[in-house]
Amino acid sequence: METPEARAAGKPRTVPVWKALPSALRDAHQSLVDVGNAADGAVVRLGLGISSPYLVTHPEHVQQVLQENAANYPRGDNTALWRSVRRLVGDGILSEGETWAASRRTLAPLFRPARINSLVDTMAEAIEGATDRLDQAAADGTVVDIGSELSRLVCAAIMRVFFADRLNVDEALRIMAAQESIVTSMAPRLLAPVVPWWVPMPGDRRFHRAVQEIDGILLPVLRQALRQPGTEGDVLSTLARASRDGQPLTEQQMRDDLVSMVAVTTETSYVALTWLWPVLATHEHVARRLYAEIDDVVGAGPVRAAHLPRLSYTRMVLDELLRLFPAGWIVPRRAAGPDVLGGVRIDKGATVVLSPYATHRMKAFWGPDAETFDPERFAPGRTDQRHRYAYYPFGLGIHRCLGEHLFQLEAQLIVATLVSKYRFTLTEPSVPGIRVAASLRPQRRVELTLTRLEPSVAR
Ligand code: HEM
Repeated sequence: METPEARAAGKPRTVPVWKALPSALRDAHQSLVDVGNAADGAVVRLGLGISSPYLVTHPEHVQQVLQENAANYPRGDNTALWRSVRRLVGDGILSEGETWAASRRTLAPLFRPARINSLVDTMAEAIEGATDRLDQAAADGTVVDIGSELSRLVCAAIMRVFFADRLNVDEALRIMAAQESIVTSMAPRLLAPVVPWWVPMPGDRRFHRAVQEIDGILLPVLRQALRQPGTEGDVLSTLARASRDGQPLTEQQMRDDLVSMVAVTTETSYVALTWLWPVLATHEHVARRLYAEIDDVVGAGPVRAAHLPRLSYTRMVLDELLRLFPAGWIVPRRAAGPDVLGGVRIDKGATVVLSPYATHRMKAFWGPDAETFDPERFAPGRTDQRHRYAYYPFGLGIHRCLGEHLFQLEAQLIVATLVSKYRFTLTEPSVPGIRVAASLRPQRRVELTLTRLEPSVAR
C-alpha cells in the first residue's frame, strides 16, 4: 500500500540523456558525473528513450538503497549488467535473495581478517616469484604491457592462497583472457540498455564462447575437487565440503560460486592497479613520496607482512586511486516496491543506478577539485570529515565486497614489490581515457619499460 510519505513525495526531474546519444552513452561514466553535479546530488531520472532509470548519487540516498532499505533494492535482473553477470556466473554469490545468502554464508569464512592476515607472507612470496619475467624485461629493455603483467602477479597470489594452486597460473590467465572477452563483449549491451534481450547484439557470440571456455577449464578441476575435497581452506575444498539444507552442493551450485569467485578475485584487482602507473608518471610529487616511503620501509625487499602497517602513504595513494578509478563503476538495483529517496518518489519495478564513479567525482561531496588526484584526502583524520557513503569503491551494506581487505593487502604487496625493484618509464606518460565495460578500463594499453634498481641505488 502507498504510504502517506510516498503520496506526498515529488516527481524527480528527468534529464533527457537520449538527446545527447550516442556520445552520452559512449562517455556514460562522465555523463553520470555531469548529471550528478548539475542536480547537486538530487535524485533524477535519466531519460534514455524507452527506459528512465533513477540516478542516485547523494551519500544519504546511497546509504538508504544499500543499507537501510536494502531489502527493497535487490540486484534484480532488469539491468544489462546483472543480466550479463547472471549469464556468466549463474546463481551464486553474485545473485540475490536466499541463494545469495547461502553462498555468502559458505564463502564468508574464507575472508575472515585473521585468515587473510595469515596468508600475507605466502602471497608476498608468490608475487615476488612471479616477477622473474619483469627482471628479464628490465634487463632486455623490453616494453611491457603493465596490465597483463599485473594480471599475472594477481593470479599468482590468488591462485596460491585462494585456490591452493589447484588451478595453475596459465589456466587462470586463460580464464582471465576469456573474462576479458566477456567484460568487453558486454559493452554494447551496457551502452544500449534499451535494446531488448531477444535482439542479437554484437558481442553475444563472443560472450557465449568465452563462457564455454571458462567452464571447459573449471569443470574438470571442480570434479577433481569433489573426488578429493582436501582439508585446505581454499575455495574448492570449501565448496566441496559445504552443504545446503543438509545436502551437499550440486555441481551447478558449486560451478556458479566457483566461476563467481574466479571472476571477482582477479579482474577488478589488476584493472584497478593498472591505473597507478600513468597517475604516478603525471604526479611526480606523489611518485617521489611513494618511492621514498617504500625505499625507507622495505628497502630492497623482499616485502613481508610486517612492512604493511608502515606503508601508510602507499595505502593513501591506493585509496585515492580507487576513488577516481573504482573498477566497479556502476551498481544497479531494482526497486521491489515503491519508496521515497530524498523526497523523490521511486516507482515499484524501476531501475535505480548507483555509481561510485559519479559520487566519488562530484563537487558537492569532494570539493571543487573533485577530479584532482590527491592522496591527502585519505590522510589520518580527514576521512572522518566525510559521509561514510561518499566513498564506496567496494560497495557497502549487505553486498559489501568480501574481498576488500584481501585486495588492500595484495595491492600494497604488489606496489611495494614493484617499487622496491624497479623504476618505470611510460611509453605515453599521460593518463589514458576511460573505456567503460563491466569494469572501468584504460582506453589503451599502459606500456612501459623497467629499470632494475641496484640495492645501493634504491636507498
Ligand atoms: C579493486 C578491487 C575490487 C573492487 C573495486 C571490488 C568492488 C566490489 C563491489 C562494488 C561490490 C558490490 C557489488 C554490489 O553491491 O552489487 C563487490 C562485491 C563482491 N566482491 Fe569485490 N571488488 C574488488 C576485489 C575483490 C576481490 C579481490 C574479491 C575476492 C577475493 C572480491 C569479492 C567480492 C564478492 C564475493 C562480492 C559479492 C558480495 C555479495 O554480494 O555478498 N572483490 N566488489
